[in-house]
Amino acid sequence: MARPLGIDDPGVDWAGARVLVRADLNAPLDGGRVTDDARIRASVPTLERLLAAGAGVAVCSHLGRPKGQRVEELSLRPCAERLGELMGRTVELLPDCVGDEVRARAESLAPGELVMLENLRFHPEEERNEPAFADALAAGFTHYVNDAFGAAHRAHASTEGVARRLPARAGLLLSREVEVLEGLLTRPRSPFVAVLGGSKVSDKLPLIENLLERCDRVLVGGAMCFTFLAAQGEAVGASLHEGPEGQAMANDLMERAVRLNCPLQLPVDVLVADRFAADAALEVVPTDDIPDGWMGVDIGPRTAATYREAIEGAGTVFWNGPMGAFEIPPFAEGTRAVAEAMAASSGATVAGGGDSGAAVAQLGLADRLTHVSTGGGAALELLEGKTLPGVAALPSAS
Ligand code: 3PG
Repeated sequence: MARPLGIDDPGVDWAGARVLVRADLNAPLDGGRVTDDARIRASVPTLERLLAAGAGVAVCSHLGRPKGQRVEELSLRPCAERLGELMGRTVELLPDCVGDEVRARAESLAPGELVMLENLRFHPEEERNEPAFADALAAGFTHYVNDAFGAAHRAHASTEGVARRLPARAGLLLSREVEVLEGLLTRPRSPFVAVLGGSKVSDKLPLIENLLERCDRVLVGGAMCFTFLAAQGEAVGASLHEGPEGQAMANDLMERAVRLNCPLQLPVDVLVADRFAADAALEVVPTDDIPDGWMGVDIGPRTAATYREAIEGAGTVFWNGPMGAFEIPPFAEGTRAVAEAMAASSGATVAGGGDSGAAVAQLGLADRLTHVSTGGGAALELLEGKTLPGVAALPSAS
């Protein structure tokens, strides 16, 4: 994808502009409290930059999947409060994202003023990318900035439609995400190692196919490895694994890896549990000796040591998906080993596309990686080689 023009590129005088900023404030909530503010935090620099340059800003976002209805538990209020705490100011939440009141507030936004619009997905027209809704979103604003990398794979009114109605730019977060993730595909420093976990081969097929073309080595962990092992004829006990279709995909990938001369490495040992619980009985076994009725819940220490060495010696590392069920502390060691090796690596280290970012944050290592993507599906689609509609709708630099 061509580089989108960013807010720091010449051509826009932000002083006096009234800017609609699309952010991805889709943060996990627990009883009205934000439990992980990474995405909200990541949205702050663009807002600060625009406000400091003299713009008035209304920030909008989706939260959850309310299916086009007003759902009070999915109000952006907790996110407005958290954003206010992070920015040291009050962020007023308007009661809606379109309509006469919002338009009037947009038209009267003063330089340095910041408000938040209510959840875009309270309106079904948002996800349908309806032209009239995109018109309504744009009403009263002079400019649009898309900083919602996590939603850039969605062709919605607030990510795609409105970008075609106002002078548009990419925010700092979106620009950096695209630059770093595209850099993995186009100019990785070798050796380029991908570490892939997660539960299903079928979910990751296009990603793995694209990475095999570009990497020097792919290291597999997570429940996904049991589909590969089953495809090789190993007994995987009660481990989560896919049936014939997923195993056929695994076989195809292993053949492709040989053809492309990119080793696709599977664990040599795993941690098995007699049940999926923190107080389960545990054992470390070779992957060709998983006992009947036991389930693999993490990579084993020998595998972790090999993966650690590969990661520490890499020029570039991309990591997607935990190595085991890391939310249960006794099953988190493999994931910890990968995160620590990435933190220790002198290469470029990028985590993204779901739970690996959460794991890095939980271990307090996020600042020691080159980049932790805020995108789940968006990061994966970009790395699969797809064009993201939210990026494609922005004017490009070339
Ligand atoms: C995400 O959580 O990955 C983004 O915010 C997009 O959310 P969605 O999958 O509900 O579109």
